[in-house]
Amino acid sequence: MSSSTTTPSANENVEEVGKRYFLPRSYDEGRRMQNQHEWIKGCAGGLIKAPIDRTRSNLHVLDAATADGYWIHDVAREFPKDAEFVGFDSAPEEFPPIENPSTKFHVAKQNLIETFPAEWANKFDLVHQRFVIPLFKEAEVPNVLKNLTGCVKPGGWIQLVEMDFSAYVQAEKTTAINMLHTLTNSIVSDPKAATKLGRRLEEQGFVNVHSEGINLVAGNAPESSELGERGSRNMLAVLQYFMSVAKPEMFGMTQEEWASLPEKFTQDMKEHKMVLRVYYVWAQKPEQ
Ligand SMILES: C[S@@+](CC[C@H](N)C(=O)[O-])C[C@H]1O[C@@H](n2cnc3c(N)ncnc32)[C@H](O)[C@@H]1O
Repeated sequence: MSSSTTTPSANENVEEVGKRYFLPRSYDEGRRMQNQHEWIKGCAGGLIKAPIDRTRSNLHVLDAATADGYWIHDVAREFPKDAEFVGFDSAPEEFPPIENPSTKFHVAKQNLIETFPAEWANKFDLVHQRFVIPLFKEAEVPNVLKNLTGCVKPGGWIQLVEMDFSAYVQAEKTTAINMLHTLTNSIVSDPKAATKLGRRLEEQGFVNVHSEGINLVAGNAPESSELGERGSRNMLAVLQYFMSVAKPEMFGMTQEEWASLPEKFTQDMKEHKMVLRVYYVWAQKPEQ
């Protein structure tokens, strides 16, 4: 058998990876991601854990899979005015631009699995990426990371932020909460991807590798009703997105049980607290 019949061409692979991404790209999805951004920032106590010196001039920052660039808009306030921001996404044109951005930034169309522009090589003091890695199969991740690490300047940092879909830290075992866990865990390509990122960055030759698990609270969270509410809103939307690509038969449920899940989840979140785990992983490219 020739290799052309077993190995998909680059274009076929781009198409196949594109089909795996089932979340919408729209104004409403932009708003959901903005709420999710504020939720994570609040739970983690900030956006950047990599110890980049933000007093230096002419810093270059790249945000991968940036959607509408909301992360850049928010993080730019923590950088000197002359810092330069670039974001890219495989379909940036599908996200309406954010209103009144805090800084000027350039958004490019670029797929994570295709060759990156030569002018990005070794250019950025910080490369950031959040919430896209579990989309990729285990075997694809090293190439995605190679593209990203190639953009980091010697001495610069990469920071990856990803959800661990394989484990909820704490949750009452209600049907709706269990279903959210089962759905997310069974549909993403690699639910444990977040836990492997530190080792993968070491394999790319990066040093000073850190991986920090952060608890995200949702629902009836006595420590912060605001974060609990943001988390509930976000996870309800996530539940509905995942339901849209699954069927009740896959989980031995009747149509009625399935249809009632969002309402049950909303009720559960009023009564219970749920804790999910996100990983901030950061590492440095050696100077030489
Ligand atoms: C869940 S959103 C996260 C957006 C943003 N990073 C954040 O944290 O709010 C995932 C983003 O990845 C983009 N994306 C999906 N597959 C991609 C690919 N193969 N290459 C580049 N971007 C991709 C989507 O268009 C979407 O904007």
